[in-house]
Amino acid sequence: MKNASLYNKAKEVLQNNWRAGFSIPCAKLYPFQWFWDSGLIAIGFAHFDMQKAEQEIKTLLDAQWGNGFIPHIIFHTESDTYFPGPDFHRSDLHPQSSKKYRSTGMTQPPVTGFVLEEIYRISKDKEATLKFIEDLIDKVYFNHDYFYRHRDPENEGLVYIYHNWESGTDNSPIWDDIWDTMNPPEYTFERRDTTHVDASERPSKREYDHYLYIIDIAKEHNYSDEKIAELSPFLIQDPLFNAMLIKSNESLLTLYELIGNNEAKISQLKQWQEKAINAFNKKLYDEDLGAYVHYDLRNKRPLRFLSSSSFAPLFANIPGKERADNMIKVMMNKFGKESQYLCASFDPDSERFNPKKYWRGPVWINLNWMLFDGLNRYGYTDIAERVKSDSIEIIDKNGFYEYFDSRKEVHKAGNAGYGGNNFSWSAALLIDLLEKN
Ligand code: SER
Repeated sequence: MKNASLYNKAKEVLQNNWRAGFSIPCAKLYPFQWFWDSGLIAIGFAHFDMQKAEQEIKTLLDAQWGNGFIPHIIFHTESDTYFPGPDFHRSDLHPQSSKKYRSTGMTQPPVTGFVLEEIYRISKDKEATLKFIEDLIDKVYFNHDYFYRHRDPENEGLVYIYHNWESGTDNSPIWDDIWDTMNPPEYTFERRDTTHVDASERPSKREYDHYLYIIDIAKEHNYSDEKIAELSPFLIQDPLFNAMLIKSNESLLTLYELIGNNEAKISQLKQWQEKAINAFNKKLYDEDLGAYVHYDLRNKRPLRFLSSSSFAPLFANIPGKERADNMIKVMMNKFGKESQYLCASFDPDSERFNPKKYWRGPVWINLNWMLFDGLNRYGYTDIAERVKSDSIEIIDKNGFYEYFDSRKEVHKAGNAGYGGNNFSWSAALLIDLLEKN
């Protein structure tokens, strides 16, 4: 196979990041299990070690709370290389939190549904894999039920996130508008991330003050969803997060149909799905920008910025064909110039764009992986191929970094991979992209 040595290196990254029953995203910087990382990592493992792929998901779902919630970090071990750790997050404050694992009290994009379908697609023993899925699919369904019961206060079909760490796109410039509405205290704490990674590639100290303050508000109310909906200064309907939920709903429908005998759940999923897709298209699409944007539920306003999240709905089949055509034009004009790798995480023409700083501009492999699928879905196979070859090229040139500079010229000058190295989902999704020949 072409790229065989890259494929083998990717396997090695995953093998090295495997712990007892789960994977870490990368050593030191992220020494525990993360929700959406875990899901995407399982897709990589499914190609060469199905047992680990299954175990990854089993462990993740084992940490589910009594109300269906799945936390964003599961603190399996003690580690002093990460801040804020379990003593700051205090998941025990919530009456239904896991008694077995310490975790955070926030979640992350709900990828598990579509990950199960991906694992099934990849599997060479469909019968055994369907049996594995049958044993735990209800937990994923219960997680979706949690979202619609507790994260949709106006009963719109769109769920909110209450923290930027729930979005996955931690320090996106979109959140700057929320930070402008807040004035948190100056916290005293010791950052760990900036001892592993150059500070110019990570969020600022002042941004961390905001992050910690939102958690403090949630903790004051023992992570009550009702209180958070009432009081959190950060309350966002995020197109990436909601697209993941919709994509996962669709996968649950497919999988329940395969399993059979689940009529009530199938009919509930169809209802969620119809309502969610309608609301998504009505509320989150910005005609003038020609793509989807975030909605600030706390301050009742759209946050009108283009980011890689604006195009994630392609992956979940949310826009109609005409709208998708238009979005892809917008994407190529802004993000697809010849001087750029696809796809920057934030609008390269914006003054807030920073091609080195985490989610303020760099290219991320997980968003590219979704984009690749979405573009193919709408018939844009050439652009999809460019997303794929760009992803392979930046990894090949730099290594399995967490994120990459979007400017091609910077790659010519030396290393243009940033954040953690030997990063699990960059390896896992590269494997999947290489397999999709
Ligand atoms: N990615 C976050 C961090 O940087 C947490 O999810 O710590």
